[in-house]
Amino acid sequence: MKRICVLMGGTSNERDVSITSGENVAKALASLGRKYEVLPVRLDADNLDALPAGVDACYIALHGGWGENGGVQAALDARGIPYTGPGAAASHICMDKIATKKALAAAGVPVAAWSVATSATTPAPPCGYPCVVKAPRDGSSVGVYLVKNEADFAHAVAEARRIDREKFGGDGEALVEEYISGREATVGIVGRNALPAVEISAPGGWYGFDAKYNSDETRYTFPDDPFVPEMQRIALAAFDAAECRGVARVDFRVAPDGRMCVLELNTSPGMTGHSLVPKAAAKAGMDFAALCDAILQAATHD
Ligand SMILES: Nc1ncnc2c1ncn2[C@@H]1O[C@H](COP(=O)(O)OP(=O)(O)O)[C@@H](O)[C@H]1O
Ligand SMILES: [Mg+2]
Repeated sequence: MKRICVLMGGTSNERDVSITSGENVAKALASLGRKYEVLPVRLDADNLDALPAGVDACYIALHGGWGENGGVQAALDARGIPYTGPGAAASHICMDKIATKKALAAAGVPVAAWSVATSATTPAPPCGYPCVVKAPRDGSSVGVYLVKNEADFAHAVAEARRIDREKFGGDGEALVEEYISGREATVGIVGRNALPAVEISAPGGWYGFDAKYNSDETRYTFPDDPFVPEMQRIALAAFDAAECRGVARVDFRVAPDGRMCVLELNTSPGMTGHSLVPKAAAKAGMDFAALCDAILQAATHD
């Protein structure tokens, strides 16, 4: 029987979501019978001091911050303990929307047109208005602004740069993106298998913080459209371009003319009752415990 530690909590603003994910995962792994001894562990600091000795592998149910940006991954690498999901380098790339853009674009993965605003320069939005301005190293729709006209642009850029500066030091950067109207969908990858695409229909067409966590109006469906296999192919290409392994969720926007753009990759996707990877896995015939087991089976370290 293997001793599995489920890491949850942490210090990011996604702590509560992480605890829900972690409790779900721990319960599911324990339900698999005598296969695993499951140790749920809440982290209250950005270190592994709370990790018990003699652990065979860690299931990382941390979201955001040190738990998703390569920090905990590097700490587990240093101890030689296998863990779920992408390694430290890939986690670091995916937590940074500018680094992600560069990695995807270099590999020919389609993305929305973009530019970067810094203290030195604020280029005009690459495709005019509306545009989207983002704090590049945040998550959960904090610091993501839909900007409708030039009058609001400078303010959004200043806000996004301020968030980036306060959290990460340096000068502060903002990512400016072409606004892609049209459908929104996400593809989960487990191991190297692309799950069915989940289409997200958020109120007002904007999957922001409220639509994610506070709204009952957001609808999730499984489109049966011909674009789905192509989206799964692109999702896997994005997964590879960002050097991911184990599990990730690839978020898309599909323009009205059918052009697909990868918005971002999430390397520690939610495992709550509302989360999209578990919904997609269920659609593919994989129940929650089997999904957790598949993610755990792919655990490794660098
Ligand atoms: N370029 C874009 N065009 C249209 N909508 C976007 C664009 N970028 C982000 N959005 C909307 O904002 C949401 C959050 O943006 P995202 O880049 O995924 O950041 P987060 O890390 O906060 O999830 C997306 O789910 C989508 O609804
Ligand atoms: Mg997102």
